[in-house]
Amino acid sequence: MPVDVLVGLQWGDEGKGKIVDVLAPTYDAVARFQGGPNAGHTLTFDGVKHVLHQVPSGIFHPHILNIVGNGVVLDPVVFRGELQKLTARGVDWSHNLYISKKAQLILPSHRALDRISEEARGNTKIGSTLKGIGPTYSDKIGRVGLRVGHILLPDFEARYKEAVAHHASIAAPYKKGLEIEEFEADFFSAVEFLRTLQLADTEYLLNDLLTQGKRVLAEGAQGSLLDIDFGTYPYVTSSSTIAAGACTGLGIAPRHIDKVFGITKAYCTRVGSGPFPTELLDEVGEQIRQAGREFGSTTGRPRRCGWIDLPALRYAIMLNGVTELHLMKADVLDGFAEIRACTHYRTATGESTPRLPDPGELDAVTPEYLTLPGWHSDLTQLTDTTQLPSNLLSYLTFLEHELQVPIRIVSVSPDRVSTLYR
Ligand code: IMP
Repeated sequence: MPVDVLVGLQWGDEGKGKIVDVLAPTYDAVARFQGGPNAGHTLTFDGVKHVLHQVPSGIFHPHILNIVGNGVVLDPVVFRGELQKLTARGVDWSHNLYISKKAQLILPSHRALDRISEEARGNTKIGSTLKGIGPTYSDKIGRVGLRVGHILLPDFEARYKEAVAHHASIAAPYKKGLEIEEFEADFFSAVEFLRTLQLADTEYLLNDLLTQGKRVLAEGAQGSLLDIDFGTYPYVTSSSTIAAGACTGLGIAPRHIDKVFGITKAYCTRVGSGPFPTELLDEVGEQIRQAGREFGSTTGRPRRCGWIDLPALRYAIMLNGVTELHLMKADVLDGFAEIRACTHYRTATGESTPRLPDPGELDAVTPEYLTLPGWHSDLTQLTDTTQLPSNLLSYLTFLEHELQVPIRIVSVSPDRVSTLYR
């Protein structure tokens, strides 16, 4: 079966972009199926770091089609900026980039609503990236959204005005104006640019590829614990971030899905609000943040850091049907005398459970840890798994035993070349 799906198993920022870039040469197409400019996929090669937000991470491989699927919410201004940056770096995306006409458009007023609703939440803020994600998906589900295909219609401007009027009516009870006038000219010029791109019924494009026996890699954004249904609701994003989302977000039938790659860090991070039982609020957390350069690639916010959380990973593996794990940023733990892994939670009633309790109960759980010895080597110089230090090998064996899924890739630096296959 020719579709493999790659998903984050934590709260995003696991390193999905790097792995998509590394695996892309073995596929004919890479397709994004959800999320939007809230994502920040970082790829590093030839000494240069690239951050992609909406463009699929296969874009640096000219023979691979890159598809922005119908499940994505697209900000034309951000998208144009990304493509201009790629052009400046000599990447020609003109022939291999397709955008679904059914993807939803993020308008300046969606961003305004994101800001207004976050301000109104006071100390229950989601910690949104303020890119307009929630309001755009709300309009989609409410059946009032504007799609990319609408920009080709003669009445697009009238539809836009109707949408903005609707958004102004949502903002009115907050006693806030949308204040979008200064962004509108830029939005329309970005829409003009979007009209020049390859807008397509990408579900047909993808299914035609599958009929020809071509291979597709579906690229997830954010992480399973931010999933709208199964994440730490309400502190989640507004899309289906799990593997099943690839079917509805691309128009691919479930029978086409083969492997599911689950991406996890060797530890855990989270940006924004919400429960994070293994969070380290001490100097160890700070050490991880500095060593892992854990600052948001989209917002620059410091990421919350903590130990790996196995109840949460088991849950994500179950939801996604993960067939192989890719362990990222193992090198960040270089030099730690001890490494801890949360194997169970102790609940408020005193029960020890290997499962993830309901999000509402997560603030009250206490993680139960197993401590393992660290390794004292510089992993970033390794080129082969035979060189892995024995304490890291023990950590990998321990994780595989706990999670019952093989770890096929160990990543030991941001660079493409630092990808060790087991
Ligand atoms: P939104 O998707 O911008 O509405 O943000 C909702 C929550 O998801 C916030 O906690 C964000 O920090 C988090 N989030 C959204 N996108 C990402 C991502 O790509 N990486 C990590 N966290 C994200």
